[in-house]
Amino acid sequence: MRITFSAAVQALKDGQLIGVPTETVYGLAASIQCQSAIKKIFKLKNRPKANPLIVHVATIEEIAKYAHSYPPQFAALAKAFWPGPLTVILPAHKGRVPAIARSGLNTVGIRIPALLVTRQLIAQTGALVMPSANLSGRPSSTLGDHLEDDFGADFPLLEGGACQNGLESTVLLYQNNKWVIGRLGALTPEVFIPVLGYEPLILEKQKTQAPACPGQSFRHYAPKAQLILGDEARINEASVILGFNERTYPDSHRLITFGSLDHPEKVAEHLYQILRQLDIEEIETA
Ligand code: TXA
Ligand code: MG
Repeated sequence: MRITFSAAVQALKDGQLIGVPTETVYGLAASIQCQSAIKKIFKLKNRPKANPLIVHVATIEEIAKYAHSYPPQFAALAKAFWPGPLTVILPAHKGRVPAIARSGLNTVGIRIPALLVTRQLIAQTGALVMPSANLSGRPSSTLGDHLEDDFGADFPLLEGGACQNGLESTVLLYQNNKWVIGRLGALTPEVFIPVLGYEPLILEKQKTQAPACPGQSFRHYAPKAQLILGDEARINEASVILGFNERTYPDSHRLITFGSLDHPEKVAEHLYQILRQLDIEEIETA
């Protein structure tokens, strides 16, 4: 159910959850002031309590409320990529970021979204805690309709059109004197080279100790359809082929195209929508 901007501000102040557009994916928002609303996020999404949430702010100045110190080159990263699809993990002001939002960690993930309406909303409500607005494990939402599919037609959301990036923010954390990527997202590793002087490595999934980026421990972005990746020998098991404009595929199968290999940003923009389409059409294998 689409609601107006002023109703969205009021709902968040009243401790309700609403859907909020960003340039990456839609978020499921609660006010950072309202612990009971933050608890509802985990319940509604069926999200593991061990997977912490990102705090979204509208300005650089607000970060000092939620983080108490900054690793080297933080200022340069902030200047280059905010507002935008970057999340940075920082040492948390524990008194101001509810433990439930950080899953009990000493750190907090922070991001300044690029979409103007998102920052205008945060300017009215204060910081918003928001995971992607999807049932845990399922593809994220890049259209308002996707939230209605997951949470029902009456679920309140601020309409923002199609998300421009279509993929989540890239998560950076500082470890052993280097920035590393905790989650791949809309910013590719090489875009950090001019700012950091090196390409950040992608954090390996740790088997023995607690993961530095807990999201790595859980299944994500999966449609109900079974996906067979790149195995031509198994093509007959699939009902449709997901492919690219430039490639040729057997005529025996219907083709759903991600778009052109020359435009990876467009492929990213439509990825989750296409994965969701498989389930709407009740396709079992692709
Ligand atoms: O683009 C995005 O980041 C979207 C929009 C709505 O802003 N949000 C999003 O949130 O993707 P979510 O909850 O789906 O993913 C949060 C990711 C997880 O991988 C989580 O492990 C990581 O951020 N994260 C959050 N806080 C963390 C922390 N304190 N330490 C390490 N990783 C953290
Ligand atoms: Mg998510």
